[in-house]
Amino acid sequence: MTGNQHSAVTVLGLGAMGQALATALVTAGVHTTVWNRTGGKDADLVAAGAVSAASVGEAIRGDGVIVSVLLDHGSVRETLEPVADRLSGRQWINLTSTTPEESRELAAWAATHRIDFLDGGIMAVPPMIGTEHARILYSGSEAVFERHRPALELLGAAEYHGTDAGTAALIDFALLSGMYTMFAGYFHGAAMAGTAGISASDFGRRAAHWITAMAQSLPAYGAVIDSGDYRAQVQHLAFQNSALDAIVRASHECGISPELLAPVARIVDRQVRDGHGTQAFARTIEALR
Ligand SMILES: NC(=O)c1ccc[n+]([C@@H]2O[C@H](COP(=O)([O-])OP(=O)(O)OC[C@H]3O[C@@H](n4cnc5c(N)ncnc54)[C@H](OP(=O)(O)O)[C@@H]3O)[C@@H](O)[C@H]2O)c1
Repeated sequence: MTGNQHSAVTVLGLGAMGQALATALVTAGVHTTVWNRTGGKDADLVAAGAVSAASVGEAIRGDGVIVSVLLDHGSVRETLEPVADRLSGRQWINLTSTTPEESRELAAWAATHRIDFLDGGIMAVPPMIGTEHARILYSGSEAVFERHRPALELLGAAEYHGTDAGTAALIDFALLSGMYTMFAGYFHGAAMAGTAGISASDFGRRAAHWITAMAQSLPAYGAVIDSGDYRAQVQHLAFQNSALDAIVRASHECGISPELLAPVARIVDRQVRDGHGTQAFARTIEALR
């Protein structure tokens, strides 16, 4: 341990996210060693007090926790495999985005080398790191999470989701799925509104207000799904089918491709044709399962 409550940290990867994480640690006085495949990305960090390592081998000297924040699963394996024999008995937190199976594969690989492994999913963009808006999901070794929790909380709210190393990645990617379809819906809407001379930023302000209001109903949708009772008084699937059909036609009318919305329309239409027209919109989840 260093002079403060945090153990030393080695950050492998100084892309946009690695730099943000290392900056939050250094700023809080954590002894931080940094390494990046391509040199020249650590000048500001070194000026702020970080220790620059010229190689991965040099970076992992000492007994601090190792944090990888690289491009993808392949780059993590490529970076750590050559030094695997020197990682035995160490603690490693992977904050690189990987699929749940890739996270489990990293956990299994770590176990064969007697490395204590915690995986993480960052629910933030770099400028949010170290602010109240950042949240990082973790799963895998509870011992690693508890030991380094004070340092992890410097990065953002830290949530532990159990010993299955794939769980954090699963929740991360499930949330990203919602994010991507939300942005796609905005792009479609902005293209439509643009045909009437409405700027994308003007439409963005309206969409943010509308989507924020509608998002409040997600827990209620969840309650319907969890109950499995899809009886609906209003806005059932037949109603949604008609609404989606109208939006697709409106897109064609103004010369905008409906291809982002079309899959949603198709899945709702299929349910109606399968005889579920009087059931709730939330039943759409059953068409995916
Ligand atoms: N940025 C975000 O908003 C955000 C949000 C949540 C999660 N994440 C996740 O955080 C991770 C890093 O994202 P980022 O934004 O920092 O990406 P980035 O700016 O593109 O940086 C990628 C990093 O990976 C390194 N790298 C790539 N291939 C490598 C290899 N084969 N061996 C060693 N290092 C390699 C790069 O090194 P070089 O400089 O040498 O190319 C660089 O340090 C990703 O998994 C990403 O999904 C990012």
